[in-house]
Amino acid sequence: MRWGFVVGLQLLCLAGGVMPFDPLQWVPATIKNPLVDLMSNFLPVIMQVQRLLISHHEDDSKREEFEFVIAGAGAAGSALALRLTERPDWNVLLLEAGGEEVPIMDVPFFIGQFQSTDANWHYVTTPQTTCCVLMKDSRCDYPTGRMVGGSTGINYMFDVRGNPKDYDNWADMGNKGWSFADILPYLKKVEDMQIPELQNSDYRGYGGRIKITYPNSFFDVSGLILKATEEAGFPMTDDYNGEKQTGTGRMQTTTYEGSRWSANAGYLNEARARPNLFLRTRSFVKRLILEGVRARGVRYERGGHEHVAYATREVILSAGAVNSPAILMHSGIGPADHLQQLGIPVVQPLPVGHNLMDHTALATITTLNKTVSPSIPDVLLNPLNLVNYFARKSGPFTSPGGFEAITFHEIEGAEFHTPGWPDVEILYASLNPLATRGLADVFRLSDVAYDRLLEPIKGKPSLVAAIWRLRPKSRGRIFLLNNDTSTPPQIDVRGFSDPEDVAAVLSGLRAFQQVLAAPSFQRVGARIVDAPVPGCEEFDFDSDDYWRCAIHRFSLPIYHQSGTAKMGPPGDPTAVVSPDLKVVGIEGLRVADASIMPLVISGHLQFPCYVIGEKAADLIKQENGN
Ligand SMILES: Cc1cc2nc3c(=O)[nH]c(=O)nc-3n(C[C@H](O)[C@H](O)[C@H](O)COP(=O)(O)OP(=O)(O)OC[C@H]3O[C@@H](n4cnc5c(N)ncnc54)[C@H](O)[C@@H]3O)c2cc1C
Ligand SMILES: *[C@@H]1O[C@H](CO)[C@@H](O)[C@H](O)[C@H]1NC(C)=O
Ligand SMILES: *[C@@H]1O[C@H](CO)[C@@H](O)[C@H](O)[C@H]1NC(C)=O
Repeated sequence: MRWGFVVGLQLLCLAGGVMPFDPLQWVPATIKNPLVDLMSNFLPVIMQVQRLLISHHEDDSKREEFEFVIAGAGAAGSALALRLTERPDWNVLLLEAGGEEVPIMDVPFFIGQFQSTDANWHYVTTPQTTCCVLMKDSRCDYPTGRMVGGSTGINYMFDVRGNPKDYDNWADMGNKGWSFADILPYLKKVEDMQIPELQNSDYRGYGGRIKITYPNSFFDVSGLILKATEEAGFPMTDDYNGEKQTGTGRMQTTTYEGSRWSANAGYLNEARARPNLFLRTRSFVKRLILEGVRARGVRYERGGHEHVAYATREVILSAGAVNSPAILMHSGIGPADHLQQLGIPVVQPLPVGHNLMDHTALATITTLNKTVSPSIPDVLLNPLNLVNYFARKSGPFTSPGGFEAITFHEIEGAEFHTPGWPDVEILYASLNPLATRGLADVFRLSDVAYDRLLEPIKGKPSLVAAIWRLRPKSRGRIFLLNNDTSTPPQIDVRGFSDPEDVAAVLSGLRAFQQVLAAPSFQRVGARIVDAPVPGCEEFDFDSDDYWRCAIHRFSLPIYHQSGTAKMGPPGDPTAVVSPDLKVVGIEGLRVADASIMPLVISGHLQFPCYVIGEKAADLIKQENGN
């Protein structure tokens, strides 16, 4: 395993710090939880120590001119960096605002914990009225990665590439070159499928940059989910990334030998060994340097000073769907009225920041009358799990926080339904949820919601399921508060502002309830928590109106920010970039990241973002005679 020794040492220190209080799990669950909160306080310290212990290759030269300057070393930016530096005559500068990835971040079980560290931009949404209402001030936490590897360093590692129809639909919108037939070769190029049963599939790639395995752990609740789904007569799928997405199946993850496999592992570790890649971390890109309508370079902040970097060929923004639009708007490329209000001279009017999409989920809690899966403290405090992880690369530490099963559901008969194109995803967390105020704080859950919904299930066997519409109609917006680049971009996510999205999730919930009613779940007394969601007391529990109320209140976006520099054909007034990812009306400037998605895919976003980076690099090479 990569850096295994260092992780081992650190984890043992961590366990040592925790265990004197609870060597043999004698302490009741209620007292354990604060210890886990304590662990969240340890993680940032371990990260800092590991950063000091591990040497990373990065550029410290004063060089200012390159062929290409890329802003953001996330999924797409990392793929671009590796592919562009395949041309030895091209020097590429990769500017990343965050710091390095360290081994502790690669232990799958710790997902979610890194949202409270400096590997996250710590954005929150603006106050919402149609989702997030039960969060503190009705504002959801809105994590997005701030590190080498971008969001792939803190994400939950699920490999869900979307449906072929997603890409065909992009092409139907006029985006030539983005049909599934065009994209499948890229998906295969990215993938290194390590699950033996899936290696011979025509849909899957083998030998690519990003490794995919099943976690070497499977909690009993995950098995129950699969069994009960079958009993309830719903379809199963052996590979939701293959021929048939619809159904329930086992989660595939971007992991290898029990560790996270990020953009850093898959792309940058190789790219940064090349002499023509210049990677500068802790480098925050503020604005573009524009000469008329030509992008010449960027202004960025590093070590408290402002620097410039020039691109003789192109500047590429891969800063993600929140930050790429912010850089554009700060540079005078955006909605004219909005920029004028902020005193930013308009260079090119474009609908930057519009079309913000996310997957906004209803959260549900189901209690069981029998302990089927462990809780987070049970896993952390059992020394055998550590031994298993380091000696055999297996056991619960390889589980991405207990998310091991997933459902793609088609709402047959719905007006908006297309056969073969699932409408709803259900994601299950097969661990007893950790009811602590510390964790609730990470998600900004309000005290009234915590007291009503989580406190009563503390230490009890239960299952959390999140349900969302895969292709929502709701649209939000990214905008600026002022022309100061240090003010965070504003995120008005507006999940569930379209009633059709509410209806779709309600249908998904009803399907989930049928699964809960199946014999396997009934044997363990599965029941959705009926403590009314605060604010929904006026409705009869389990009526459609009750759930519509809950959907607006107990819901959160699940970090699939996309669409804010929409790709579209020439003449499309909603487009910010063309199908070759060039910013409309500007020369020498592309956007390549989740921002360009015209419609969010029916999956999770890391794979399409890798593909966007790979494809951008090919487009650039083709235009430059290669
Ligand atoms: C908590 C979380 C969980 C997720 N779980 C999953 C999952 O399980 N499966 C999945 O497929 N997807 C998941 N995603 C989504 C997926 O990881 C992202 O959609 C994907 O990584 C986006 O790729 P990107 O290239 O658009 O941007 P990112 O990967 O976010 O990279 C953008 C990079 O740009 C840097 N940057 C931003 N602004 C600047 C600036 N001004 N100057 C310099 N650098 C800058 C950022 O620090 C970051 O490193 C998750 C995301 C999050 C946040
Ligand atoms: C920011 O806006 C103010 C007016 O609100 C203006 O005086 C200032 O020049 C602007 N600065 C930049 C960098 O655009
Ligand atoms: C759990 O609930 C089921 C169904 O209500 C019941 O048959 C079973 O006896 C219960 N088990 C326990 C341990 O209470």
